[in-house]
This record gives sequence, C-alpha cells and structure tokens, in this order.
Amino acid sequence: MALKEEDVKIGSLVSDFYNESPFPGYDINKFIIKDDLYKNANIYSRLLHDQIPYGKSILDAGCGTGQLACLLSLKGRTVVGMDFTEKSLAKAKELKAKLKLDSASFRQANLLELKDTGERFDYIFCNGVLHHTNNPYLGFSNLMQFSKKGTLVVIGLYNKYGRMFLRLKRTWVNWRYVNDQQKKREAIQDMLVKDEEDCEKQDSWFDDQYSHPHELSHSIDELLGWYEKNQVEYVNSIPPIELFRKEGNAKMIFKKSPVNGWKNSRSAHILKQLGWIISLRETGGYYLIVGRKT
Ligand SMILES: C[S@@+](CC[C@H](N)C(=O)[O-])C[C@H]1O[C@@H](n2cnc3c(N)ncnc32)[C@H](O)[C@@H]1O
Repeated sequence: MALKEEDVKIGSLVSDFYNESPFPGYDINKFIIKDDLYKNANIYSRLLHDQIPYGKSILDAGCGTGQLACLLSLKGRTVVGMDFTEKSLAKAKELKAKLKLDSASFRQANLLELKDTGERFDYIFCNGVLHHTNNPYLGFSNLMQFSKKGTLVVIGLYNKYGRMFLRLKRTWVNWRYVNDQQKKREAIQDMLVKDEEDCEKQDSWFDDQYSHPHELSHSIDELLGWYEKNQVEYVNSIPPIELFRKEGNAKMIFKKSPVNGWKNSRSAHILKQLGWIISLRETGGYYLIVGRKT
C-alpha cells in the first residue's frame, strides 16, 4: 500500500535532519580494535551484549550510525541494521569495515514500507525510532513480519508522561534564547549526555533532544496494546513498568518480570508514569519494553 502524503513528508524531514546530524554521533578514532566497541558502549548496549547468547540473529531497525549493531555482531551473532538515513548508514558501514565485522550488514529501508523478505530473527530491536515516524504502529507491525515464535522484541519510545518535563524545559529554553544556541545549550547542560571527550556524541544528543522536527510519545498501555494485537507477550522493561518493583530485576532484561496482578495493571501504569515525570526527566522520558512473540 502506498504511503500517505503526510507520512512521506515527515519521513523526508526526519531523514534530512539525521543526514545533518547522524545519531548517535561518535568519534570513529575511538574504535581501533573490536574490544573498543564494548569499551565505548553505554550501559544499555553492554547489558544487551552480555545477555544475548552466542550465535543469535538480530535485526536492529533504525540502527542509526550502527554502534550497537556492530557491538552485537561480536560473539558469532549476525546483525542486520536498517535505517533510511544515508549518512548514518555510511558511518555504520565505515565502522564495520574498520573493525572487519563480517557478520554485521547494513541496508537502507523505510520502516513504514518494509516488505517481507522471508528473513526471521531471534531478536528485533527498534530503539528510539518509531516515535519519529508519522505512523509508529505501521512501522511496528511491519517489523513483526520478521518475527517467529519466540522472537524477543525490544521497542524503545518516549513516554507521554515521562517526556513532559523535557518538553516544558525545551519550550522555555526555545522561547528564552530564540537565536542563541550556546545559551540554549548552557541552560540545559544538566540534561546533556555527559561525555566531555566526545563532542560529536554531545552535539548529536543535543540536536536529537532539542531541535528534532518530529517526535511523538506513547504510554505504556499503548505500546502493550500493539504487542497484544501482534501476539507479543510482555516480558520485562527498563525502567520497571510495575509498581513497587526494584530496578535490579529489570537488569535481567530478557527474563520474565516476577511482578504480576494489580501491580502491573493499567491503573498501576498510570501511577508509575506520573512518577516518571520526575524520575525520567534527565533521560527525556525514554523507556523500553521487551516482549516475546507467542
Ligand atoms: C534517535 S535515532 C536512534 C538510533 C539508534 N536506534 C539508537 O538507539 O541510537 C533514530 C533513527 O531512526 C531512523 N529512522 C527514523 N524514521 C525512520 C524510518 N521511517 N525508517 C527507517 N529509519 C528511520 C533515523 O534515520 C535515525 O537513524
């Protein structure tokens, strides 16, 4: 089916934006040997690398500049990275070639127009991507074509409640320092990713959070609704979506959450998300939910 005019228009705005500011930015000189992939990875990427077994197949949809895809291609795993932004893919391919990562491959694709290629993956990741499309559910259901029974699906989105603080701050900063990028930056210093050495990383983070042309946000139950419609059962989340669950449990990200019943109900999720207005303010309300295709 052909895309709607608005889907195409927003898609072009978003890919132009990432062609200007590929995400995540990183200094390629920091990668000399394969071990540098782990050394330079964030906590989340390390956790995935540590917990995904040897030899698995992985789809990283909206892979950006490919740092995660390259890391996950170690340990005999095969990874396909997809993205529609040429410049991001070029950087991903440069990193792959530099470190001679034969089991990582990258291809250009729009998640809203994916066709079934017959490939099936053990893991499907889509981190921070769908909320930048005009039709997140279409992108999600397209991705499910690549799943099979048991596929672990990880979707990361901005949360409707958790992102409120950042939105308010962005509105204020944009109004207060209309034409002064430097002042804007200083005003939000506490919300920037902390990496004094890697300016590229900091710049891309700043652009992504404060100058993006299109972002949506989604509640926990909206995402769980997408899962239900596509026979994906809830497994776990970061941070925990359940009431009174210790953060520690969420670190075994592919293990079924031990908390059930009312603590993991719609009303519990509302209370939880109200708390996220404050507790997730520095990460811009970003959360991810892991599911398993049944
Ligand atoms: C914030 S970046 C996230 C990159 C990476 N997943 C990460 O977590 O660092 C969003 C990425 O999604 C890609 N993207 C957005 N909409 C897309 C679409 N419709 N099809 C393919 N890629 C898309 C952008 O090009 C960009 O690289």
